[in-house]
Amino acid sequence: MAYITGTQEFWSTSLHVAPGTLVPRSDTELLVERALEFAAKAPEGYIAELGTGTGAIAIALANELPDRIIVAVELSVAALRIAQTNITTHTTGNAHLVNASWLDCIANNSIAMVLANPPYLASDDPHLPALEHEPHSALVSGKTGLEDLEHIMRQSLRVAKPGAPLIMEHGCEQATAVRARLIDYGYEDVGTGKDLAGLDRISFGIVKQ
Ligand SMILES: C[S@@+](CC[C@H](N)C(=O)[O-])C[C@H]1O[C@@H](n2cnc3c(N)ncnc32)[C@H](O)[C@@H]1O
Repeated sequence: MAYITGTQEFWSTSLHVAPGTLVPRSDTELLVERALEFAAKAPEGYIAELGTGTGAIAIALANELPDRIIVAVELSVAALRIAQTNITTHTTGNAHLVNASWLDCIANNSIAMVLANPPYLASDDPHLPALEHEPHSALVSGKTGLEDLEHIMRQSLRVAKPGAPLIMEHGCEQATAVRARLIDYGYEDVGTGKDLAGLDRISFGIVKQ
């Protein structure tokens, strides 16, 4: 329906959507809520939002945190065009787009908080046929579905400042595996948050001080 109307509401903003990008889900607002809570205690500096799609998360944060610069990263050029339209329309200059793969182009020890809603479905996930209208590259990560989440955990250790939170959305059955990997990589204060349906939806950890 969102592709037909060309719009989708997210965090009280009416975003332009088109088939080049995922339609933002209301469950993802949980990631924004947690990011706002963590922002108060996070170090000074840029916030990186990875796989921005329409720009939904970056726009919400840019407007809620006007003193922070949001660096929104996206690999898909089609999605990037949609995000650029939305960011230009709905923000006042503190959100910037970067065309790159995850944190590849971000300098060491430069980021105050990392947020991501990456692809997290396994390549044989039974839900995929029902999602055929959305880009495969926005949905599917690899054989297990955890590949991009784990890549982001590894890269965040390089780019994030000590004390920076990493917050990631994931599938509702992936929380145990995501928390275990965060602990293995040395993140502190690891936890999980539930969405409005009571399902495990995001997990987070803090880069060691
Ligand atoms: C699940 S969608 C999330 C979109 C948006 N953040 C949201 O929550 O509605 C995942 C996004 O990650 C992007 N993506 C996939 N692989 C990527 C990579 N290696 N680097 C950066 N972005 C990537 C996809 O193009 C897609 O826009």
